Amino acid sequence: MNISGKAKIAGVMGCPVEHSLSPRLHNYWLKEYKIDGAFIPLSVKPENLHQAIRSLPALGFAGANLTVPHKETALNAVDRVDKNAARIGAINTLVVSNDGSIEGKNTDGVGFVEALEASTNIESLKGNPVVLLGAGGAARAITAALQDYGAGEIYLVNRTLERAERMRDDLGGKIIPVDWKERADVLSGAKLLVNTTVLGMVGQPALEINLDALPVTAVVSDIIYRPLITGLLNNAARRGNPIVDGLGMLLHQGRPGFYSWFGRDPKVTEALRTHVLDRGVL
Ligand code: ATR
Repeated sequence: MNISGKAKIAGVMGCPVEHSLSPRLHNYWLKEYKIDGAFIPLSVKPENLHQAIRSLPALGFAGANLTVPHKETALNAVDRVDKNAARIGAINTLVVSNDGSIEGKNTDGVGFVEALEASTNIESLKGNPVVLLGAGGAARAITAALQDYGAGEIYLVNRTLERAERMRDDLGGKIIPVDWKERADVLSGAKLLVNTTVLGMVGQPALEINLDALPVTAVVSDIIYRPLITGLLNNAARRGNPIVDGLGMLLHQGRPGFYSWFGRDPKVTEALRTHVLDRGVL
């Protein structure tokens, strides 16, 4: 890395932050595009988040990403929240404006849809049913983006049904909360199945779901990237469904932030995937 005194600086705030792949991602792009800049991990405890965010303009930061557990609480620390992030109720990207004010955005859902578009034909999603497993923060961002894309009914399957019902009430549109026990029954006719729960992640229980009713043309996606090919993706691929792993969403969600901070619209390439996978993911 070769940074001058004029370098643009951004970072990622998390607690813990050491597992974040964002430094590896953004510093790859900075090097690739020969930009005088740096992207650093910022270990910020929840009780210091407000102060850390408000310090960004004074320190001359262009902005930051936010990761667990800061995405919701950060809403109270920024000057403006864009419409999409307000709808979702969480932010993952901070942008410091020339006047020193801070805007919060959420690029997770857009990152998910871009990753889908990059690896498969999703035109058929328009007006057609989707099944989403989970109703946490990631599910909110993805649901909002799928609604914007024009997906049809969104069957929202969650262990805690009330959480799915709350999401329907908050986001509106054609969201149908489904009890966890009925997850296999809503698969017929789906064009897309997405796992946003923690099930199947390294160290978590397996995701058990009978895929018999799912059309073989349906795209199956998992937002987990440790492991890269989850049990769900493995089962789906074996029966012939197109699959999309979770790394694409991670890479694509970083693009709008990079553009705002460093002024260049970066590309997600095979070389980038290989770079992030090398020691970073598996
Ligand atoms: P994130 O914000 O990253 O989406 P989260 O808010 O912790 O994470 O959400 C995790 C999701 O995994 C939730 O949908 C959760 O279900 P609940 O709302 O019922 O908690 C789901 N989840 C976690 N453990 C689960 C399990 N053992 N069985 C089914 N779903 C589970």
